[in-house]
This record gives sequence, C-alpha cells and structure tokens, in this order.
Amino acid sequence: MSDNLFRTKSIEQSIRDTEEPEHALSKSLSALDLTVFGVGVIIGTGIFVLTGKVAKETAGPATALAFVVAGVVCALAALCYAEFASTVPVAGSAYTFSYASLGEFPAWIIGWDLILELALGCAVVAVGWSGYVRSLMDTAGVGLPSALSGTHGGTFGFDLLAALLVLVLTGILVAGMKLSSRVTGIIVAVKVTVVLLVIIVGSLYITGSNYHPFIPPKQEVTGGGGLSAPLIQLMAGYTPSNFGVMGIFTAAAVVFFAFIGFDIVATAAEETKLPQRDVPRGILGSLFICTLLYVAVSVVVTGMEHYDKLSVDAPLADAFKSVGHPFWAGVISFGAAVGLTSVCMILLLGQTRVFFAMSRDGLLPRVFSKVHPSFRTPYRSTVLLGVVVAVVAGFTSIDVLAELVNIGTLFAFVVVALGVVILRRRRPDLPRAFRTPLVPLVPVLSVMASFWLMLNLPAETWVRFAIWMAIGVVLYFAYGRAHSRLGLSTARQQDAGTPNS
Ligand code: ALA
Repeated sequence: MSDNLFRTKSIEQSIRDTEEPEHALSKSLSALDLTVFGVGVIIGTGIFVLTGKVAKETAGPATALAFVVAGVVCALAALCYAEFASTVPVAGSAYTFSYASLGEFPAWIIGWDLILELALGCAVVAVGWSGYVRSLMDTAGVGLPSALSGTHGGTFGFDLLAALLVLVLTGILVAGMKLSSRVTGIIVAVKVTVVLLVIIVGSLYITGSNYHPFIPPKQEVTGGGGLSAPLIQLMAGYTPSNFGVMGIFTAAAVVFFAFIGFDIVATAAEETKLPQRDVPRGILGSLFICTLLYVAVSVVVTGMEHYDKLSVDAPLADAFKSVGHPFWAGVISFGAAVGLTSVCMILLLGQTRVFFAMSRDGLLPRVFSKVHPSFRTPYRSTVLLGVVVAVVAGFTSIDVLAELVNIGTLFAFVVVALGVVILRRRRPDLPRAFRTPLVPLVPVLSVMASFWLMLNLPAETWVRFAIWMAIGVVLYFAYGRAHSRLGLSTARQQDAGTPNS
C-alpha cells in the first residue's frame, strides 16, 4: 500500500498527457508575458492593504525589514520553483512537480493545499477590491446597503461586489487565455504606475521623525492573545507581544501574502512557448521587481505618516490624505481597485489550472479536465471554481483568510524545496534549463526559512490548516486513490503480466 501512495508519474508521462488533443492547452506565452503575469498577481492586497495593518499593529517603520525577510524566504523558494518548473513544463505547479518526484499522495496533499492558497487568496483579494470600490463609490455619493457590503466587525452582510467581480473574471477566463493576458497587461501597467507614484510623490512628504523609533519597543499583548498569538511565541513560553524584533517576524509572516503569486507563474508553464528558458526568467524577474517596490513603498508610507496613525483599510491612499493631498489619494484608490482586479483574475486562473491537472490525472473527476472545443480552456473547472470562490468571497472577511492562505503557501514551498533534492537524486539524467544553485544548501535553507515564517503565524491558523488538510486526506482515500489514472494503468499492466517500471 505504501508503494501505491508514493507511486510517481514519470516526467515523460506528464508531458505526454499534455499532448492529448482533448486535454491540451494552447502554447502562446513568452517570458515577458510571464513577467507581466507575475507582477500582475504579486502586487495586490499585500502592499495596498496589509502594509498599514502590520506597521500599525506589529512592526512600525520596520515593516520595510519585514518585507525584506519575506522577500528572502520567497527568493529561496523561487530558486527551487524555477528548477522544478523548467524540468517539468506542464500545468499544475507544485502539484505536478510533486507527482513526478515525491509520489501521488504527497502530490495530492500539495494540490489540495494549492487549492486552498489560490481559492482563498482570490476571495481575499476580491473582498479587498470591493472595499476600495465602495470607498470610491462613497466619494461619488453612491452607497450600497450594508446588507450587500460584506461582513464588518459583528455585522453580517453579503459582499455583492466581491462576488460579482469573481463571476465576471470567470467569464473572461472561460473565453480564453490570450484575451485575459492582454487585459492583464493593461491593468498591470496602471497598477505599477500607481505604486511608482506612491514612491515618487510620497517621498516628497516624508517627515524624518516618523522613523523614530524605527523598531518600536516590544509591547505585551493584554490577556496573552490565546490561540491568536504566533505559535512560536506560545511554544517558547513567552508572553505574546507585538513590535520589537519578534514583531518584524510576525509582520513578515503576514506581509508574505504580498509575494504570493510568483509561484503561480509556474502554473502557466504548459502554455509557454519555451518553458525551459522563460519560466525561470518570469519567476525570478517578477519577484525581484516586486521586492524592490515593496521596500520602497513601506519606507515612504511609514515616513509620510506616523505608524500608529496609519489606516488599516487604505493605508497608501490615506497617507496622502494625511499630508493634505486628497487628489492623489483618489488616484491611488482608483489604481488599487484596478490593480486588484488582475490579482484576483490570475489567482483564479492558477487555481483552475491546478484543479485541471488533478482532474486530468483522475484524482478529481475527469469531467473537469475537458477543454472547450473552440476556446481551448478548461471551462468546466473554471466555472465550478469561479462560482465557489464567488460564494466564499461574498460571505467571508479578509483577516483570518489571509493567514490561512500564507500557511498553505509556505507549506507548498517546503514540499517544493524537498522535491528539488529528491528529484536530483532520483532523476539526475533529466535536462534542467535552470538549476538551483548550491543544492542541497539552498533547498534546506528554503525549508527552514519557510517553516520559520509558518511558526510566526497564529496557533489558530495552524488548527484551521490542519482541518483543511485532514478533509483532503479523507477525499484522497475516498475517491482519488481508486480513480487515479496512474493507479489504473499500473493495475492494467499488472493484469497483463507486464511489470511496471
Ligand atoms: N500577492 C498578492 C496580493 O498581495 C496575492 O494581493
């Protein structure tokens, strides 16, 4: 039985599967498309919304250092992702890579984990988008009833705008990749312009005294914080606290959300013209650009307004209001709303591609991996997941979800880094257009760094994550294991007396 759980799909088989006409995606993306795609998904709610929250509550001006910490964790993971993506150029990201290296059960676990990351990530961004749009609507004097404005504090409401956004984007994705990447290109240009505007115009309004103290002194959380305290602080027996040096790591575990997305570039490998060359370029290029922008934005914003006065809803725009420039605040709010649209769309796209790959392998019903006869998109999985995400976005609030997305993504990073080492041992012969430097040192550092950030997330996030993964394990044993294409073909070969290699 343990052999079955760890049966691996050969890389050659993975590539052959993508060539079956009924299940083949069109190959049209270049390295530039991928970088645009990467920047398109990476810059989003993390920098536009979470920066203010962590600066105000856990790190102060040292939020810039939290971005550096999270960026280093992601760079280590990116070096591992890039090798995997350039070796296994098929849809499915860490899921596919794990199937080819660690085995079917670990691959299922990682695929299930990626669905959590991408679906909830998309829902989080849709809710953040809805907040910016409502704020612009309020300025224009058009209000929505609170019952249709989402859940705030103790007041329950359905977030109509968030749900509608997800449904419209689902329609665009069904209509075809090329259309969506063109639309994405325009949106990314608007978003990057707005971020540069914050950096350049904002730097004119910095007050040096706002940087003192750069690392605010540690503050104990009244009442201890219980399960909402970071796991590492509970394990070490500290009284849970904010700010201080540990506050930088708590903040890093949250602003990590701002980097999520570079890994999704790898999910488009199958739709890339030259995946061996372009996927590593797309991943590393987009990550590098975003890290520079994040550090610059957080330095500027905490310099414009004292960290304890920053807003937690629209910190970039509100920092401009605080220095008496409501016009720039409006422009930034508009750009943020436009920018978050592309993030939401690409997360949705990445999620449908993982689901598609799992269905093509028989671990989820095969009906979801049929591509549309004329659009060549996996329309059934796209529609199903789009509707589910729209409902989740309509009924949930941001905070808890973002932490759950982070833990899931960091867990995927751990598995990918281990996968690089295992695949080097098992298949040293495979051509690798991009090789992770200093193996096994870099993958080991990547595992340790990702795990460290996971430990800095609240204990309750660990509990929720464990529940989600337990549901996944039950589903695998109830459905996936018996329907796996790999398992079925192995069984057929054994019946015919051919030993499986
Ligand atoms: N990195 C993306 C964001 O910050 C998911 O919204």
